[in-house]
Amino acid sequence: MTKTVKERVAQYAVETLVKSGMNIGLGTGSTAIHAIRYIGLLLKQGILTNIRAVSTSFQSMLECEAWNIPLYTLNSPDINGILDLSIDGADEVDTQNRCIKGGGGALLSEKIIAYNSRKYALIIDEYKTVEHLGLVFPVPIEIIPEARVPVMQALEQFDMTVSLREAVRKAGPVITDHGNIILDATLKKVSDPNTLELAINRIPGVIENGFFTRIRPTVFIGHSDTVEKREKIEKTE
Ligand code: 5RP
Repeated sequence: MTKTVKERVAQYAVETLVKSGMNIGLGTGSTAIHAIRYIGLLLKQGILTNIRAVSTSFQSMLECEAWNIPLYTLNSPDINGILDLSIDGADEVDTQNRCIKGGGGALLSEKIIAYNSRKYALIIDEYKTVEHLGLVFPVPIEIIPEARVPVMQALEQFDMTVSLREAVRKAGPVITDHGNIILDATLKKVSDPNTLELAINRIPGVIENGFFTRIRPTVFIGHSDTVEKREKIEKTE
């Protein structure tokens, strides 16, 4: 059966980076799920052994359970706050390998895992590469519900168009795995994501935002017939 681009890029990243005995963060979304499934398959076949996983969402937890991938938390003594590797999808990736994540609403756990991993890999298809972040795909921002209006007003001061993420098949907003709500903010003009990542988090009521600029991911980009591996080129801090 022909593999989709998402399957191929996910499997390529797993084959390139995952080794037996690793503690691994597993991402969320329709691309990351293929990495989870492939790790599950390699464990089942005995090709990989002794993998400890930390999931980034209810979705990735369920998939790990389905594939008998042993689940831990970042706080488990065997993990002790740091992962060898994490693999996740992304919504937009710029030329410096900075990205926007959180299209699936899991940005908080995804960022905690990303920023506590020795190695971080993003798996995307080629349509997610952009020159400037946040002009097309909005940056998701997880906030405390009671701060909705003041946070929206503060974000508008950053020249952003902001909307509340609405749920599908439930009236009202999306409620995250952590019991919060999400605002989606699109930039009206090119702005520095490094500055925005820090500035947005300073607004009272904001828990985390979907700019990931303070890590150095390896990005695997799926094209129609190849997978490109792109290391970070320039320093962003
Ligand atoms: C979830 C995420 C996902 O990794 C991101 O939305 C990409 O998802 P997909 O691979 O389904 O396009 O950040 O919060």
